[in-house]
Amino acid sequence: MPDLPHVPHEPDPETSGLRVFPASRDHAVREMAGMFDDVSGRYDLLNSVMTLGQDRAWRAAMWRAVPEAAGVVLDLCTGSGVSLGGLRRPGRILLGVDASLRMLELAADEHGPWGWAPRLACADAFRLPFRDGALDAVTIAFGMRNLRPRTGALAELARVLAPGGTLVVLEATAPRPGPLAPFHRFYARRVIPFLGRLSPDPVAYRYLSASIFEFGTGEEFERDLAAGGFALVERRAYLFGAARLWTVQRLAGEAGGTLRNARPRARGRGNFTQGSHAAEQEWRWWTSTRAVVSAALTGSLLWALITWVKWRPAINLEPWQDRIFWLLIVAGLAGFSIRTLVLVLRLLGPPPPG
Ligand SMILES: C[S@@+](CC[C@H](N)C(=O)[O-])C[C@H]1O[C@@H](n2cnc3c(N)ncnc32)[C@H](O)[C@@H]1O
Repeated sequence: MPDLPHVPHEPDPETSGLRVFPASRDHAVREMAGMFDDVSGRYDLLNSVMTLGQDRAWRAAMWRAVPEAAGVVLDLCTGSGVSLGGLRRPGRILLGVDASLRMLELAADEHGPWGWAPRLACADAFRLPFRDGALDAVTIAFGMRNLRPRTGALAELARVLAPGGTLVVLEATAPRPGPLAPFHRFYARRVIPFLGRLSPDPVAYRYLSASIFEFGTGEEFERDLAAGGFALVERRAYLFGAARLWTVQRLAGEAGGTLRNARPRARGRGNFTQGSHAAEQEWRWWTSTRAVVSAALTGSLLWALITWVKWRPAINLEPWQDRIFWLLIVAGLAGFSIRTLVLVLRLLGPPPPG
């Protein structure tokens, strides 16, 4: 067997729990895998920075979209396995597939071989090592846009999913027209490649930025889903559409047209856990209230700072009193500004799990 160029050794399946399938050695896949091998060390950290720490909440929404009853679940393009933890359940067969061996080795280190640990395999998404209809659910986080041609990848997913099975796709998307589009475009085109300089392979982050635009706004993806024989259960947008989450169901044989809603009967299969609406409403109300109070305090402190600067010469304070006042007002302003921002970002994302 020829060696993969970026991996100095073949993993021993007995000790690493990793299996390597021949299709993961095709040229195009090898090139893609090589790029992810190179960035694997700092990938998760940079991902969190680039998503402003929101990727955890988005992944939690992806986990909730997987039916609790799904017995065989695949996390495709699993990378370092950051999405696998939330998919683990006693009795569930959890699989993680990726083309990058270095990423998978990180996943193997993180999850170990014991208990209901995920089974990891190095394989190509276009030639998955599973029988037709073998899987109840598939999740893909930030991996779909790497799979080209997309229609080919969706055909392979339709093959391995059981009829009525669930596919959940979390992906970074290009800006749709609107007042925030210029900011979104600037972020994806300039900020992501800039932050990518912290990575050992900045070229990979230029690719990442370009691939967001190539993937598009999501409308084209929905057309491909419909043509591939999937029906929509739910779609969500996060951070003004910077990331989107699709939950779709594999239809039994019907394909084509536009993406239709899954029938309520089908929705019920496997107990979809989109969360209690009452609990979500309560969480939103409470977080909004805290954000408003925090914003009001930020405004008051800003007003106090401006007033202080204006009247300071007229007030006769001891130097130590002056310093303490400055410290209190500046620290308070910084603290409440950050808190307001964090609460607003939380509101833009999905509610927390549970
Ligand atoms: C952007 S990373 C996402 C990793 C992880 N899902 C996450 O959320 O952080 C994309 C992953 O897709 C994998 N990938 C790309 N093309 C693939 C293919 N044809 N087959 C399997 N995995 C592939 C890469 O190796 C990489 O680990």
